[in-house]
Amino acid sequence: MKVLLIGGGGREHALAWKLRQSPRLTELYAAPGNPGIAKHASCVSLDPADSGAVIAFCRSKAIDLVVVGPEAPLVDGVVDRLGEAGIAAFGPSAAAARLEGSKGFTKDLAAEARIPTAAYRRCRDLETTRAEILARHPPIVVKADGLAAGKGVTIAATHDEAIAAAAACFSGAFGHAGAEVVIEDYLAGEEVSFFAISDGVTVLPLASARDYKRLGDGDEGPNTGGMGAISPAPAMTPELAERAMREIVGPTVTALRRRGTPFRGILYAGLMITAEGPKLIEYNVRFGDPECQVLMMRLESDLLEVVLAAVQSRLETLRVEWSGSAAATVVMAAPGYPSTPVVGSEIRRLDEAEQAAGVKIFHAGTRSAGGRLLASGGRVLCVTARGETMSAATAKAYRGVALVDWPEGIFRSDIGEGR
Ligand code: AMP
Ligand code: GLY
Repeated sequence: MKVLLIGGGGREHALAWKLRQSPRLTELYAAPGNPGIAKHASCVSLDPADSGAVIAFCRSKAIDLVVVGPEAPLVDGVVDRLGEAGIAAFGPSAAAARLEGSKGFTKDLAAEARIPTAAYRRCRDLETTRAEILARHPPIVVKADGLAAGKGVTIAATHDEAIAAAAACFSGAFGHAGAEVVIEDYLAGEEVSFFAISDGVTVLPLASARDYKRLGDGDEGPNTGGMGAISPAPAMTPELAERAMREIVGPTVTALRRRGTPFRGILYAGLMITAEGPKLIEYNVRFGDPECQVLMMRLESDLLEVVLAAVQSRLETLRVEWSGSAAATVVMAAPGYPSTPVVGSEIRRLDEAEQAAGVKIFHAGTRSAGGRLLASGGRVLCVTARGETMSAATAKAYRGVALVDWPEGIFRSDIGEGR
């Protein structure tokens, strides 16, 4: 089977590594890929936003299946365009991807399906938003409705801060994504990333993870795309996972199917484990990055089989096997990340670090130049390990970090610790 993987970050490196292990895979292409992915796939410079070019490439290589990593092409409808061209693709349609593309859409769907989530109000102008904010007690959560590269959410400690955040949205800080704002109550508890897969009708739980979003140790500093992850999430007991499926994920899939826009793909539920049980914070419509890296370390089933079962509407008959062990990934980022990453420094001895520490190093933001490997993005490497216990997995990952010869790299030293 010939597969095209869309994306070029740490998540896609983990997907490429896992897809490559499938006996059914004959050829793997990645667009655009990266130097790490290039060990498992042929990298092609295709713009995923240009669906015409993607379709032409698929036809020229007789691609059997397209797997889409990031959210933007999904929200833009790449899966719809491929479907119209008769090319099978894994990921939701644009209509179903609104779960990630519009926070207001998801809140309305949750209200309709009686899914536990924070009380909210959608607002389209500053006057309504101001009144809505003043009617609530801080902390108040202010969200740009659309995709804002993880930057559209403010947890405001005061009314003034909340109003300023809303004003920034309406004045174009997030472009079109901020034309509408969602104001919601703050949920206290422990946050968990919970993953499931659906073929539109059946939905199967996959696994849980914890993402470390803040830059610094002890959850200090600015928000990032994620500085590390562990799986399973310590807070996610089997009972809570069962409740999340019954009260949140299952009803979401049912509601989308009833609306005539069935969800096929990965559902990534951001959950808050509150005193009253799991509540939905938000949905993403793809694997998390760096959560995918730890999930792929623990997935024992053939990823290609799992994805095909979803695409071919036969998840009902599938069993997804997971290792009982723990996995951890430590992100090494460029100095200055997240605001102004300084790129271009050289990274050495990755293969030696992988072998000596027994880790898998996924490339997130690297490029090769004249036989050298250079940092090319904010998040650069994801040093990933499995272990019998979480502390064994994190100890191994940190041994790998210590062996990577990249003095410029910054990382958190507390992944896997704490709550
Ligand atoms: P999002 O972009 O929706 O994932 O929001 C970013 C982060 O803000 C989430 O991962 C949570 O940590 C936090 N957050 C969002 N909504 C809420 C809420 N209603 N209560 C508490 N924290 C929230
Ligand atoms: N790690 C957060 C995300 O993928 O959205």
